[in-house]
Amino acid sequence: MVQTSNFTMQEGDVPSLEANQALVRVKFIAFEPAMRGWLDDVKSYVPPVQIGDVMRASGVGEVIASKNEKYAIGEYVSGMFGWQEYAVIKETSDKIGAPLKVPPAVPPQLMLSALGGTGVTAYLGMLNIGKPGKGDTVLITGAAGATGSIAGQIAKLKGAEKVIGVAGGKTKCDWLLDECGYDVAIDYKSERVRRRLREECPTGVNVFFDNVGGTLLDDGLLNMARYGRIVICGGISAYNETEVPPGPKYYMQLVARHLTMEGFLLYDYTDQIDEARSQLSAWIQEGKIRHREDIQHGFEQIPQTFLRLFEGKNVGKQLLELEH
Ligand SMILES: NC(=O)c1ccc[n+]([C@@H]2O[C@H](COP(=O)([O-])OP(=O)(O)OC[C@H]3O[C@@H](n4cnc5c(N)ncnc54)[C@H](OP(=O)(O)O)[C@@H]3O)[C@@H](O)[C@H]2O)c1
Repeated sequence: MVQTSNFTMQEGDVPSLEANQALVRVKFIAFEPAMRGWLDDVKSYVPPVQIGDVMRASGVGEVIASKNEKYAIGEYVSGMFGWQEYAVIKETSDKIGAPLKVPPAVPPQLMLSALGGTGVTAYLGMLNIGKPGKGDTVLITGAAGATGSIAGQIAKLKGAEKVIGVAGGKTKCDWLLDECGYDVAIDYKSERVRRRLREECPTGVNVFFDNVGGTLLDDGLLNMARYGRIVICGGISAYNETEVPPGPKYYMQLVARHLTMEGFLLYDYTDQIDEARSQLSAWIQEGKIRHREDIQHGFEQIPQTFLRLFEGKNVGKQLLELEH
């Protein structure tokens, strides 16, 4: 398990700008489970964060100095600003964390939550791979998190008949039922998920959007409908394991039930990100998608806030607000 003692706080000078750069005073920092993987010294889709580096993280902040005509003082910009109070916007060709201006009418923190990486991931994974349709039964694990809570609502908007969320604890389950329009919420910490799924889905699950892996993936595999689609968005149950856990025990259900199981990264669909953001934005404005931000406060609380993801303490998107 990642520890707060893995991080130290250091003070330095606010950077001075070179040509084509702008300086941002960071307002909100976003936390994602994937950041745990960035701390492992292994080859992945992004290089690992090195010991002594600033921790990589997305954030949003206000431009307070600029030597780049694209960024005016007072504008809000999101980008990969890291765990720091001030960050320099550099032009990058990287798909990951490229700076993005916050449209004037949009609350800046929304660019990190429902309109940020997690909301967009829910949209792209659900629609490109899950492809929910009229009458489908859709299952989401990690359902009360930033990605899961949006994924289920998108499935419902696309005609799914029954959306089932699996989450830890009554508060999260109540939120899914009362506000997010989920039809069923299963508390995996106090209920037997496999049995509940059997009861709730007599004809099986057509689309399973999995954020967790481990035994919950097996519970889903055993309850799929023939020709069902399993979207592997993440596997947070294993992110802090020192040994790679064995794969799904019931993977032969893929054969028996003619299932498809496909993983994806948000960045596989870069050409669809703008469309995803504009559709999500419209749904939010129309009141068709509910979202929640869990906002902690204060620079010193950053490591502790990161741990909240793995302790299941966050409801909705985990953010931290910096008070300057
Ligand atoms: N493929 C992509 O491009 C992409 C992009 C973004 C995110 N993701 C993945 O999507 C998933 C959700 O990310 P998020 O940013 O939206 O985080 P999140 O769901 O808002 O927060 C993490 C949640 O995971 C649950 N959790 C933590 N440890 C667990 C465990 N051992 N077993 C079961 N559940 C556990 C907790 O909820 P409970 O209280 O319900 O346990 C916690 O609140 C992650 O797997 C992440 O890696 C993938």
